[in-house]
Amino acid sequence: MKILITGGTGLVGRYLSEITESEKPVVLSRKECNITDFFSVRTIFYQIKPDVVFHLAAFTNVDLSENDPVSAFRVNVSGTNNIAFFAEKINAHLVYLSTDFVFDGMQKQPYKEQDVPHPLSIYGKTKFEGERIVSSMCSKYTIVRSSRIFGKNGNNFASALPGKLLSGEKTIVTTDLVNSPTYAKDLATALFEIAKKQSYGLLHFCNSGFCNWHEYALYICNHLRIDTSLLVPVSIKHFHQSIAERPRFSALDTTLFSKNFYQPRPWQKALEEYLEHEVLKRNTNMIMKQ
Ligand SMILES: NC(=O)c1ccc[n+]([C@@H]2O[C@H](COP(=O)([O-])OP(=O)(O)OC[C@H]3O[C@@H](n4cnc5c(N)ncnc54)[C@H](OP(=O)(O)O)[C@@H]3O)[C@@H](O)[C@H]2O)c1
Repeated sequence: MKILITGGTGLVGRYLSEITESEKPVVLSRKECNITDFFSVRTIFYQIKPDVVFHLAAFTNVDLSENDPVSAFRVNVSGTNNIAFFAEKINAHLVYLSTDFVFDGMQKQPYKEQDVPHPLSIYGKTKFEGERIVSSMCSKYTIVRSSRIFGKNGNNFASALPGKLLSGEKTIVTTDLVNSPTYAKDLATALFEIAKKQSYGLLHFCNSGFCNWHEYALYICNHLRIDTSLLVPVSIKHFHQSIAERPRFSALDTTLFSKNFYQPRPWQKALEEYLEHEVLKRNTNMIMKQ
């Protein structure tokens, strides 16, 4: 299977590059191919002629998207349009990674694939527009929605929190934004399985269960035996660092994925593996000194 990965230098992209290593994937960053450049995408697609394109590249900064909607639109909508156009031209299977932020979070139970999106933020709107482009332009596509991804490559909360607390920094965490934490390694494995099975359509994938950010932070601290007194739980109403409006409850229902593949493991198990293998290694000295 000839594989092309956009966003290969990102959090999920690096895991996916490792997991698909046996297929010798072509891994792209913005440097090799800026997806907003129609001609650059055309050249790469006709040169490589992939069977499967994993489209992960995106303008992912949710708050910055509110201040710079033009850039968010250019990458997430126009860029996705270029990718979808050439994926269809060469008859490739396009796997597009989307987000729980396409929902407004007003529901009380996890969102299923058939629930109607209503994004609140510019980021969510541009990702949803990307979904519409992919589903209308491509014959062979899979849209995979995931949420709150953690892993070793990004500057994400699970990676940053231990260092912050151990260096004495007070950390504010919200108590009323709930979704499903997802290990990038588990997501990358699922994406590869989807491509191997040529499973088309719309799917939700995240680790099972859900929690708010305070519960998530407590779980990380308790597992690493870090003092939690510097954690400050607040309501989103008082969390002024957040500019974009976020869904209050955007856990994803993975019944469809489970029926077709396997049951994703609980977020706690995935997080424990990540903390043991990645975070503990880096912070052992600081944690031991406590
Ligand atoms: N992180 C999450 O919690 C989360 C949750 C749900 C869904 N998602 C979706 O999952 C996908 C992967 O997210 P991530 O967290 O792995 O992203 P990330 O770490 O922020 O990486 C973004 C990637 O996109 C590339 N990129 C940005 N603009 C580009 C452009 N104009 N042309 C080509 N490449 C460009 C970046 O390349 P450079 O490094 O070269 O700039 C980078 O490889 C995204 O589509 C995101 O919307 C993420």
